[in-house]
Amino acid sequence: MTQTNHRVLLKQRPLGPVTDDVFDFDEQPVGEPGDGEVLVRNLFLSVDPYMRGRMNDVKSYVPPFAVGEPLQGGVVGEVVASRAEGYAEGDTVMGMLGWEQYSIADGRALRPVVAGDLPLSYHLGILGMPGLTAWVGLNVIGACKPGDAVLVSAASGAVGSVVGQIARNQGCYVVGSAGSDDKVAWLRDSLGFDVAFNYKTVDSIHAAVHKAFPKGIDVNFENVGGDMLEAAIWNMAPFGRIALCGMIANYNARPEEMPPGPRGLPALIGRSVRMEGFIVSNHLEHAPAWDQQCREWIAAGKLEYRESVADGLAQAPAAFMGLMTGQNFGKQIVKIAD
Ligand SMILES: NC(=O)c1ccc[n+]([C@@H]2O[C@H](COP(=O)([O-])OP(=O)(O)OC[C@H]3O[C@@H](n4cnc5c(N)ncnc54)[C@H](OP(=O)(O)O)[C@@H]3O)[C@@H](O)[C@H]2O)c1
Repeated sequence: MTQTNHRVLLKQRPLGPVTDDVFDFDEQPVGEPGDGEVLVRNLFLSVDPYMRGRMNDVKSYVPPFAVGEPLQGGVVGEVVASRAEGYAEGDTVMGMLGWEQYSIADGRALRPVVAGDLPLSYHLGILGMPGLTAWVGLNVIGACKPGDAVLVSAASGAVGSVVGQIARNQGCYVVGSAGSDDKVAWLRDSLGFDVAFNYKTVDSIHAAVHKAFPKGIDVNFENVGGDMLEAAIWNMAPFGRIALCGMIANYNARPEEMPPGPRGLPALIGRSVRMEGFIVSNHLEHAPAWDQQCREWIAAGKLEYRESVADGLAQAPAAFMGLMTGQNFGKQIVKIAD
């Protein structure tokens, strides 16, 4: 009997916030791998903010999603059939695959996953791209050193929660912002942040940041942009570093609606502050060091990891929309199959 492959497609490009009508669903027969290809049964799918940019028809560091085709993202799956050297039925692999139950991939675009003790989904989060982003952004771009005063926004998320814990483990003073009281309590009570605040309910983000950093910020790990970035800019210490990781506050804005700013840039001149953007895929040489450090800290109980797991491929659109509005608590994953 032919097996069915359920898929989630990009129906149309969103203008502003993503809504249900951006997505479509279809079913196709599961195909056969050709020469050099692998048929993968997808188990876990990563849902990430950068996908919002790929929904637009603009040139970026990754090509846009095609309308009428499955969306794509990081996937961990199991090889069902292989005609590619190095892969056999039953192997666990990861790659950039479709939002679908089964994918056919070029073997060269996959990499093996060594299952080990940790859950497979961790390879899409703390052991994968978001974890490495935290490590590279803080230590390579941010040049973080023991004793530094560190600010991280979206601090309870996949990247932010790891940034804060790395900084804490390295002997830094750590402050984080997040969008709910539950998230703030987790940062303070479980992750050991020195200060955490709810950016939605404080009277003034600027005042909250200023109070938390009487001597200024040495490293600002920027995940959000907008008011958070402005507050950081005004409060940077001399020779501070701003690692521009993401600006999720602006991801839904149409180009003509993009707010001007940030204000306060002249302050960075007088204080000799360096502000630098980065894309983690340009820093993959740091992956082995992070993998080793991450596993050691997890084993020693020095790195806590939290996931929001949506159950079933059909939930992927809702998981993505939730990520963009702060419904996730920790790394957003979709479980596609057991
Ligand atoms: N440069 C790179 O290579 C790279 C790699 C990975 C990720 N990133 C960036 O890193 C950032 C975090 O990504 P992630 O995967 O860890 O996602 P995440 O933090 O797990 O999830 C996104 C979070 O952003 C917050 N948020 C959404 N809209 C916001 C707004 N208008 N203002 C403030 N906060 C808002 C929400 O948390 P709250 O409840 O706290 O609002 C939401 O939970 C994103 O900007 C992403 O694009 C960059």
